[in-house]
Formats: sequence, C-alpha cells, structure tokens
Amino acid sequence: MSGMTKPTISSLIHKENTDSPRISKRVGENHGKLQSSLSSVLQNKDKGYLMERLDEDIQTINLLKSELKKKQKEISSKEKDLKKLQKLIRKREDEGEKIVVEEPQWMSSVNSKLYDDIDIKTYRQYELAKDKVAAFYKTQHEKQTVEYNIQARINFKTKIRDRMTIWEALEKLNKLIDESDPDTELSQIDHAIQTAEAIRRDNKPRWFQLVGLIHDLGKLLYFYDSKGQWDVVGDTFPVGCKFSKKIIFYDYFKRNPDFKNPIYNLKYGIYSANCGLDNVLISWGHDEYFFSICKNSSTLPPEALAMIRYHSCYPLHTELEYQYLMNDHDKQMLKAVQAFNPYDLYSKTDVTYNIEELKPYYLELIDEFFPSKIVDF
Ligand SMILES: [Fe+2]
Ligand SMILES: [Fe+2]
Repeated sequence: MSGMTKPTISSLIHKENTDSPRISKRVGENHGKLQSSLSSVLQNKDKGYLMERLDEDIQTINLLKSELKKKQKEISSKEKDLKKLQKLIRKREDEGEKIVVEEPQWMSSVNSKLYDDIDIKTYRQYELAKDKVAAFYKTQHEKQTVEYNIQARINFKTKIRDRMTIWEALEKLNKLIDESDPDTELSQIDHAIQTAEAIRRDNKPRWFQLVGLIHDLGKLLYFYDSKGQWDVVGDTFPVGCKFSKKIIFYDYFKRNPDFKNPIYNLKYGIYSANCGLDNVLISWGHDEYFFSICKNSSTLPPEALAMIRYHSCYPLHTELEYQYLMNDHDKQMLKAVQAFNPYDLYSKTDVTYNIEELKPYYLELIDEFFPSKIVDF
C-alpha cells in the first residue's frame, strides 16, 4: 500500500464528472431491471394472493356444499315426515267419514218399509181429533207448571213404586188406553210390538228395536203417582220459560199460572242460552219417568236414552223450537230422536202381531240391555 498515491480532491471531481454518464446509464439500466423484476414480484404476489383467495373460495364452496347436503337431507327427512303425516290425516279423514257414514246407516230412513202402506197426512190430525183429545190437552196445559214439575221429580226420587221385569211391565201397561193419542185405540203392548217390529224390519240396531218396544213403558206411572193422564201422556214441552206457540193447543196455556209469571214468561225464563237440556225441566210425564229408570237400570246407549226421554217432545224434535236452550250434545241426540219418531208415529196401524210368537225374541233382547232383569219402577 506504501507505493500507492493518495487521490486528490480535484482528481476525484474530474473522475466523477467523467464517470457520471456511465453510472447514470447503469442506474437507468438497473432501474429498468428493477422495475421488471418488481412487476414480476408483484405479479407473483398477485398470483399468490389470488391463489389464496381461490383456495379460500373453494373451501367456502365446499363448506356450502356440505351445508347444502345437510339441508337437503333435512328437507328429505321432513318431506318423509310430511308424507307420513298426510297419510295419517287421510286415514283419519277416512275413518271420520266412516263414522259419518255409520251414523246415518241406522238414522237414515232411506229404504224404510215404514211408509209402504200408510198415508202420513192422516196422522196427528188434532183438528179432527175427538173431543177427549182436546179436553186432555186443556187439562195438561193448565196443570203442567214449574211447581208441579219439581214436586213430581221429588216424588219419583223418594220411592220405588214397583219391582218387575220389563216384559211384566209391558203386560201391566196393556190395560191403559192413551187419551192423548188421536191415532190409535190399540192396546199399549200392540203399539210397543208394532213400533219394535217396524224398526226391526228396517234392520236397525238391536238397542233401537228395544227402544221401540219399551219407549212407552213410563205410562205405568198412571197406575202409581199420577193425578190423571195429563201428567203421564201427551206431547211434552219445557216449563220455566216462554211456551212456544207451536205447541199443540197453545191457547190452553193461557189458563196455566206460569203463563203470566214475569220470569217463566221470558224467552229463557229460569234458564240461560245453550244451557243444555239436562238443565231444562221438561213437562212431567212417561218420557222423563222412564228415561230415569233406563238410565239407572239399563246399558242402553245415550241415543236410546234420548229417544225415550224426548220422543213426546214434538216442539223440540218436529217444530225445532227451543234450539237456544240446547248444547251441541243435545243437537246430536236430537238426530237420534228424529230417527225414532216416524216409527212411533207411523207404525200405528191396524196390523197386529202374534205376541206369543214374538215373545222369545224380545225376551232375549230385553236381557241383553237390562242385565239385572228385575227393574225398579
Ligand atoms: Fe210415548
Ligand atoms: Fe209411542
């Protein structure tokens, strides 16, 4: 190093001036290279970034795909459940329809043989009825009051009047001729058999046939506590509220003390809207009396009990009055009463049956629904 001479400042300035264009050229060259390498770095960076994005997007898509699969699975399982449910609903609907079909099967009057040989216009002709029928209703309408009704129910509940079989009761009743009936002067057992046979001929259920046989057995009341026929037979009607003008011989109610009673003379009287017929006092007679006996001693279905309880209540089942006192159950039972009514009314013909021949059939039928055989009357 001792042989080397130290450069002077002026020699350096000169060198600088002489080298500048070369360096500038080289810097320029390097700048170009730098730019292209930078852009290539940037391009590579973009690529990486894009690749990263792409990868992320693919992952998202895969995630969504698996979510979609999961949802599709859920949907298909829910669709299966829905199909099962629809099948179940259809089955239930079919069963429901069957019930609806089953009801009218015994209620329906289609193909009934009841009307074959009669003219229905000739029944319940009260205008042409004998004087004794009019006289009967004059007394009945005057005396069927709320007060009497309550007393009659107390009397019924406080004692047993008789103990016998249903067949014995039918034989006992045979001595009574119903003063309120404009359609028949046949004996009670003939009317019972005629009604039952008409129902049997139409292939109605066995309990329905039995109702035909026993529906008037409450008329036995005539031999026990009655004050006459007016508290045993005849059309029935609610007491304790306004009398319907559609009740037969309505004008005779004007002599009833309840007719001018400020409460009993109101539309609802002592009742409330749709309170149900179980809460309504129906005029006292054979319907109400025998219904109570059957309720205690038989296995008859509710429809049969309703037929027995309301079969004389023409204002309810034929005139369709007092609907505002009924509940849904009453309306359903009313259909049964309406199905029974034609057999009670239109079976009253002059045709009589051989009772001894029919007796074994009906004895068996009675035993089926009165299992204890001996009934408290
Ligand atoms: Fe009756
Ligand atoms: Fe009857």
